[in-house]
Amino acid sequence: MSQVKVKWRCPSNIAIVKYWGKKGIQIPCNSSLSLTLSNSFTEVEVELSDKTSSDAVQLAYYFEGEINEKFGARVAKFLEDNNEFFPYLADNAITIHSSNSFPHSAGIASSASAFGAISLALLDISYELEGKEKDDKFYNTASNLARLGSGSASRSMFSNYAMWGENSAIANSSNQHAIEVTDIHPAFQSMKDAILIVEDEPKKVSSSVGHSLMNNHPYAENRFKQANERTAELIEILKTGNMEAFIHMCESEALTLHAMMMCSMEYYLLVKPGTITAIEKLMEFRKESKVPVCFTLDAGPNVHVLYPKAYETEVENFINTELKDTYKKVIYDEGGNGPTKIKI
Ligand code: PMV
Repeated sequence: MSQVKVKWRCPSNIAIVKYWGKKGIQIPCNSSLSLTLSNSFTEVEVELSDKTSSDAVQLAYYFEGEINEKFGARVAKFLEDNNEFFPYLADNAITIHSSNSFPHSAGIASSASAFGAISLALLDISYELEGKEKDDKFYNTASNLARLGSGSASRSMFSNYAMWGENSAIANSSNQHAIEVTDIHPAFQSMKDAILIVEDEPKKVSSSVGHSLMNNHPYAENRFKQANERTAELIEILKTGNMEAFIHMCESEALTLHAMMMCSMEYYLLVKPGTITAIEKLMEFRKESKVPVCFTLDAGPNVHVLYPKAYETEVENFINTELKDTYKKVIYDEGGNGPTKIKI
């Protein structure tokens, strides 16, 4: 077959309403809504070649130039489980070269951007081989595939705000793929996210274990109900530009996510002293300065500081001075335009 090689870049995203708990095959227990980032991304270059083994999937997975057996095995399983989307893998070996824009040890969850980029590149090859043009369905299918690799990856396919998970209050919402949230008030159109890297060690409890602990969690049902209601409320907040309500929801979601971890049957704690200090100082700063800045957390100790671009001077000055003892480094990111295909 002729040389087939594609390259895609896919950003990470930060959830405002959190997905925490899943069932069946990567079906979320509640809907979630996130901001797609810009500077934190994964790039993958995918190439087909002749198969030399009889394995169902023959994959060589490189991360930053070196074979990565562990993540490669997860990707190979993903390809095997979803082989109907990639019929060409029956006759072709595949090589994936992957790299992240953020440092490996930054503690940023890279599975969302990695599975996003892999899904886009592999689906793109399917389209190319079948001579199909890319339409909206392409991104929905890529989002579906990305979800099967890592739930939160489903939301990285779209620019700025995306929601995932069936929600009776939201038309076209789906458990299979994310959708873009398009009606955004100017107040939320240029959001920045300064990621304070409080700790860069791998976390003690993975997200997949965390999700599974929601299965017999005493507060699970109320939490799922709350998150579904909040997703619909947040869509309204984003539409009307209600910054105060955004700040309240964003911070309450972060603390609720970690509260769920702290009161699961096998309880655990991912926040660190630096996380708490940064949060307390940030709340104090907001009270005194009236700058609309807030925090969120993903399943780890790092603090995402969210603020409108119009306030970047005040907030970045605050981060560089008042917060400087709470983190090891800061990654400045912002809302972005979603994935791109890169010319090679
Ligand atoms: O996509 P996963 O399985 O790594 O889960 C992500 C869970 C959170 O980041 C904590 C929340 C979210 O909605 O992204």
